[in-house]
Amino acid sequence: MKVLVTGGAGYIGSHTCLELLQAGHEVVVVDNLRNADRQALTRVMELAGRELAFYQFDLRDEEQLARVFYAHRMDSVIHFAGLKAVGESVSIPLEYYANNLGCTLALCRQMAAHGVHDVIFSSSATVYEQGNRMPLREEARLGCTNPYGWTKFMGEQILRDAAAADSRLSVVLLRYFNPIGAHPSGRIGEDPAGIPNNLLPYITQTALGRLERLTVHGDDYDTPDGTGVRDYIHVVDLAQGHLKALDYAAAHRGAVAINLGTGQGYSVLDILHAFEKVNRVKVPYVVGPRRPGDIATVYADPGLARELLGWQARLGIEDMCRDAWRWQKNNPQGYRGA
Ligand code: NAD
Ligand code: WQD
Repeated sequence: MKVLVTGGAGYIGSHTCLELLQAGHEVVVVDNLRNADRQALTRVMELAGRELAFYQFDLRDEEQLARVFYAHRMDSVIHFAGLKAVGESVSIPLEYYANNLGCTLALCRQMAAHGVHDVIFSSSATVYEQGNRMPLREEARLGCTNPYGWTKFMGEQILRDAAAADSRLSVVLLRYFNPIGAHPSGRIGEDPAGIPNNLLPYITQTALGRLERLTVHGDDYDTPDGTGVRDYIHVVDLAQGHLKALDYAAAHRGAVAINLGTGQGYSVLDILHAFEKVNRVKVPYVVGPRRPGDIATVYADPGLARELLGWQARLGIEDMCRDAWRWQKNNPQGYRGA
């Protein structure tokens, strides 16, 4: 297949491009590099031993996007492009709505103009309302607590409505849980700008000594050890889920939402201790107050992905911690140090 990957230079996008190339697909990336580095794609090509096509521009620039669709007869699209920092979305909400929804609308219009009907969309477990029973099934109640989350909720709705209006469309809305880890080569991985907000990059940068200590955001939750429980999923498993979703999209029409998680919850301390054990490093930490907006426990029911996509996560928490550390250790400054 020839696949347009928007946001393909980013964390999940780069891992997915590598899996696509290794599976023999042709890959065309559009990314404005707002939150990514060209190095990621260079390394993807090195690892795969194959080339991909890369265009650097803002996906909302429909003239340039139309040119890409003219230049390549695309079979399908994987749409990662978007801004993703929850806290930042609260400070600059209009930019989040403009960017994330603008990208999705531009993409839908150009797909329609060029007769491309299959799209996989990066959604998030954040679209589920707080207060649902765990594990989360796809039909659980939806609702968000921050602008970033609403852009995913609205992105899903835009694509569902587009599919309802055009029976040729095939839309797979993938709701990711907590992607962590890196490619086992240690060549590509997560490279957040500034001080990380998410747990794993915070742990790896603390282990490196770049940050002094991890703050555990609360140990008084109603969980086995009091710290927050999440469904962490290895980014390579997640990337492979997208290849399965492409096959599913090609064989079906309409819109469907599917969780990509492992179904297994781990606490902050579980992750911290697993990381220290498999990597034989110390990660100093203190317990602080709860982080506003956090809830005690989130994990997926991954049954629908197994049923519809024939996909399930294979890699465990040790793999995630080992691979995250290999990437960080080999690239202490991320791609910037290269
Ligand atoms: P990322 O920031 O590494 O990748 C997103 C990419 O999109 C970046 O390379 C960025 O430069 C690009 N981009 C942003 N706006 C653009 C625009 N207007 N035009 C062109 N390119 C643009 O993030 P990621 O972690 O790889 O996430 C990929 C997708 O998955 C995002 O849509 C994100 O919201 C979603 N998601 C991520 C997580 C997570 O925890 N990482 C969880 C659930 C969903
Ligand atoms: C995980 C756990 C924290 C940092 C976020 C987004 C979500 C999705 C995935 C995109 C929580 C604890 C964290 C730290 C800590 N992204 N923690 N100290 O909040 O589950 O999900 O990323 O769609 O939308 O909200 O992930 O990695 O920030 O936190 O104790 O320094 O680690 O409280 O329990 P989260 P996270």
